[in-house]
Amino acid sequence: MIVCRDACFTLHTAHTSYQLCADEQGRLLHTYYGARLPDDAPNLRPTRAPHAEAGRRLNLLPFECSAPGTGDFRTPAVLPEYADGSLCADLQMVGAQVTPGKYELPGLPAFRGAEQTLCVTLRDCAGLEVELRYAVFPQHDVITRAAVYRNTGAAPLSLRKASSLCLDFDTRPLDMITLHGKWSQERTPERAPLRYGVQSVGSMQGVSSHAHNPAVALCRPDADEEHGDCWGFALVYSGNFLCEAERSESGNRLVMGIHPHQFCWTLAPGESFVAPEVAMVYAADGLGGMRRCFHRAIRAHLLPERWRDMNRPRPVLLNSWEACYFRFDQDRLLALAEAAARAGIDLFVLDDGWFKGRDADNSSLGDWVADVRKLPEGLEGLCRRLQALGLDFGLWIEPEAVSPDSDLFRLHPDWALRVPGRTPLTLRNQYVLDFSRPEVVQALWEQLHRLLSSCPIRYIKWDMNRKLSDVYSAALPADRQGEVYHRYMLGVYALQKQLTEAFPDLLLENCAAGGGRFDCGMLCYSPQIWCSDNTDARSRLSIQYGTSLFYPPCTMGSHFSIVPNHYTGRTASVEARMACALFGTFGFELDLTGYSPEALAELRPYIDWYRAHGALLRGGDLYWLLPPDAAGSGAAWMVVSPDRDEAAVFAVGDALCGVERASTLPSPPPRLPLRGLCAQSVYEDADGVRYAGAQLLAAGLPLPTPRGDVPAYLCYLRRTADPRTTA
Ligand code: DGJ
Repeated sequence: MIVCRDACFTLHTAHTSYQLCADEQGRLLHTYYGARLPDDAPNLRPTRAPHAEAGRRLNLLPFECSAPGTGDFRTPAVLPEYADGSLCADLQMVGAQVTPGKYELPGLPAFRGAEQTLCVTLRDCAGLEVELRYAVFPQHDVITRAAVYRNTGAAPLSLRKASSLCLDFDTRPLDMITLHGKWSQERTPERAPLRYGVQSVGSMQGVSSHAHNPAVALCRPDADEEHGDCWGFALVYSGNFLCEAERSESGNRLVMGIHPHQFCWTLAPGESFVAPEVAMVYAADGLGGMRRCFHRAIRAHLLPERWRDMNRPRPVLLNSWEACYFRFDQDRLLALAEAAARAGIDLFVLDDGWFKGRDADNSSLGDWVADVRKLPEGLEGLCRRLQALGLDFGLWIEPEAVSPDSDLFRLHPDWALRVPGRTPLTLRNQYVLDFSRPEVVQALWEQLHRLLSSCPIRYIKWDMNRKLSDVYSAALPADRQGEVYHRYMLGVYALQKQLTEAFPDLLLENCAAGGGRFDCGMLCYSPQIWCSDNTDARSRLSIQYGTSLFYPPCTMGSHFSIVPNHYTGRTASVEARMACALFGTFGFELDLTGYSPEALAELRPYIDWYRAHGALLRGGDLYWLLPPDAAGSGAAWMVVSPDRDEAAVFAVGDALCGVERASTLPSPPPRLPLRGLCAQSVYEDADGVRYAGAQLLAAGLPLPTPRGDVPAYLCYLRRTADPRTTA
């Protein structure tokens, strides 16, 4: 619900409220974001300090869209450059409107299906107009905000910075939690108090990156997993981003949006620039409460419509990468597929190496036709044979890349990003196609359309294996090169949209050298993203834990793989590797051809378990019972169905020692206190053992004695109609 009164606005969700209000001079101020207020709660305008003359006061005000040059010396949200060279804006509110439904952001990914939209228009006397757009998702306690920058003046103006969010908090201390990482160790949470000055994370890699994620949380210093005030912000964007948090004497400010690095967007009179949206959550019940709000909202309002229903099964897939890498032919693939079919797998994914001349990572990207040396019957023939085995077919592609040694590059050398007069950088032996050019996107679309029309391809893994360098487009004039990074992202989004609309049954999984582009932008087109190339169970605990701060488990590509692990050389029990794969989309990535019938049969119960409980795992609420420690030696988590009728509990590694994690020989046997269940109900496990809900919450679930290398325990609980307990 959105309430407007006297130039003041309150956006209410079920448990939160967000307020903004224009002051006497028309400046739009942020006045509150936190726990739900009464419907008609007034806006508390900042009081004026008795000694503060106008100039000093501006630097104290909580601006809803901060601009430079007129007295606010903190981090600006927008940097306009007018034709006369001036770099300032004094934004005054000139109008506001509430409309039903959700605002549109042409060309950009966005949450869908909001109840109401508020648009507040601000204008600077020299012509910059900013339309702040807010949408409320009351049931999920999410508010989204985007900004549209318009030139209403008579001369061109350039945007040197055009952020999506500016949010001011009072002076009370806050911690900031960010997700940092690298290849094979993505999204490690880091929590630190906000210091005086500006702290920032961002990406200038052209992709959201392994190094930092475009989602951050602010919380009170005493907030933990289940208690305390937390605010979360996820940018719905997959390219360069900047998130700046500034602590000053006047309070804390968060500014988030496209990175100003190599960004400059010129608006002719009448033109607009649409900045991507940010999804915001406030939760009073800690980081767990915050993550669950994001999870529910992403599942219900961001994922592609077809995959939003968590009861819709996702295929259990086997990916050929760790089994074959580049070394395969049709016979080898079919042997692998036969084993997969015997284990009960649904979908066979042929990863890198299937196209013309691709025997290593140094050629052929851009030539998306099957290599007849390896696949004499083409993709069509392979697909037919897989179907005969009862398997669906999925394929790997990397549409944004081009190899110097490819027909596409030989034909169109200017289609790669490159700076005139310089030799472009190759990373993983490849260049990046200039997706800011519509004709390049169109050419890729034609190739992909042919490919997907050639046989029933049910799944595509869209990879992107390098950062952008040499960012310069041959198609744009010198003074428009500041648009290339963003136009590139618009090209990627346009192609993913076109692809998924033309092939509505297609399951698209994004990937970027593992999890280098795991963000809300990508999730708008693909309901799952490959989380990391590191499939080691212990590494996955921390990667999946960090990722789950914002993104729901059903979006995390996670596969069971071989031991010793190809990336870390470590071993872990079958149960631990299965538990980590079951956390996310549940697939396989290993050579099953050497598996005996008995060994294949051992995999089957897990696949059956996933089929039986997949809807719970995908659609349930996630609770971390024991988060992974720095050494990755174990973790425990559970998933509870929204109606609290069912739960799945997982304990891995030293979490089997219960809260006494360091102990290896627990005595008495440890218990794991659960969360999210109904205290008044009785739950029964798969062996028929019954527990009172209150008992599971307070005393905990008894755990078996841990045995072997990285052991694990999986337990399914169902609420019984019969209130008698036996445990
Ligand atoms: C990087 C991906 O993360 C891997 O899973 C695999 O698809 C390779 N690329 C293939 O080149």
